Amino acid sequence: MINFTVSIIFGLTTNFYYNIYIKFEKKNTKLIDPTELFPEIPNIYDFPSVHAGMLYDNERVEKYNKAIKEIIKPGDVVVDIGTGTGLLAFLCLKAGAKRVHAIERSSAIDWAKQIAAKNGLSDKIIFHNKDSRECDLPEKVNVVISELIGHIAFEEGMAESLFDAKERFLVEDGVMLPERVELKVALVEETEIYKECVECWQDIEGVDYSFMREEAIKSFYLSDLSDYDLLSEPQSFFRTNFRNEQRMHLHNSHMFKICRPGRLNGIALWFEACLSSNVILSSGPLAQTHWKQCFAPIATPIIVNMSDNINVKIDLELRTKEKDMFNFNFSINGE
Ligand SMILES: C[S@@+](CC[C@H](N)C(=O)[O-])C[C@H]1O[C@@H](n2cnc3c(N)ncnc32)[C@H](O)[C@@H]1O
Repeated sequence: MINFTVSIIFGLTTNFYYNIYIKFEKKNTKLIDPTELFPEIPNIYDFPSVHAGMLYDNERVEKYNKAIKEIIKPGDVVVDIGTGTGLLAFLCLKAGAKRVHAIERSSAIDWAKQIAAKNGLSDKIIFHNKDSRECDLPEKVNVVISELIGHIAFEEGMAESLFDAKERFLVEDGVMLPERVELKVALVEETEIYKECVECWQDIEGVDYSFMREEAIKSFYLSDLSDYDLLSEPQSFFRTNFRNEQRMHLHNSHMFKICRPGRLNGIALWFEACLSSNVILSSGPLAQTHWKQCFAPIATPIIVNMSDNINVKIDLELRTKEKDMFNFNFSINGE
């Protein structure tokens, strides 16, 4: 019988990325995210390297292309919300779409225009350099396609933009791609980042730096977890269906059963997106995507044994146009 309570509350204001420690280590090279160098730069999508990370993520691109080929019918009109460098719009045209409205609020739209021209696709794409929520289209569309999925699904403002697109742009029997996104959560024993980023805060030349540990647990960390790191089966915390729901405040709690003894030091989060009836895109530990998994540490690790019950509560306040803030609170209780 164990008895403990750990509560953590943290809010992420402005840009979620500023608080992420990104560990992109491949062989001996380190790919540096621009926000690490210039954290004051407001839009990460103004950097080619950020797009390269997504465009050369084979699992992401192959699954989107498979779903596009299943869903797009010859003659369809499509809107691509957040087209970036345009890839999803181009794939829709290749699959038979008649026309694509490509909406993008960042300057990446200029690259998309050049790439469309180079590939002879300009006459079938209408570009809109706006936030989709401030954009009007001259016609309704058969398909709303998007890839606005963040590391923990919702932090980039996907929900409000897709609810709005469904309401204003989609014909009645139209298709959303993705239609549904869920946030998965599991208890973990993370071995690298916890040591390097949380437990590292001790004395420095006789000066007590332990205060910084409290700050370090307020961040999310990107991590390459394996199945073995999980101390419980994953559970689906939030499932948002863009066709029929419009919730901007998500609150849920789940009881987890510990499946192996270990040292619980946080929760892992990832998403699962339903791109079509046959295609699921996941960023879980078995996947190989650029999203990796998110690790949210707790201040004091907890020794757990088989069959212990641990309750996790998560409260999410999603970004809206009015309130550009993503709030994530969680607490863990054992009994
Ligand atoms: C994750 S990237 C995906 C880019 C591209 N669709 C792809 O698959 O490579 C998301 C893009 O959507 C844009 N974006 C996000 N929300 C938007 C909105 N509401 N309106 C317009 N652009 C948006 C961002 O600026 C960014 O370029």
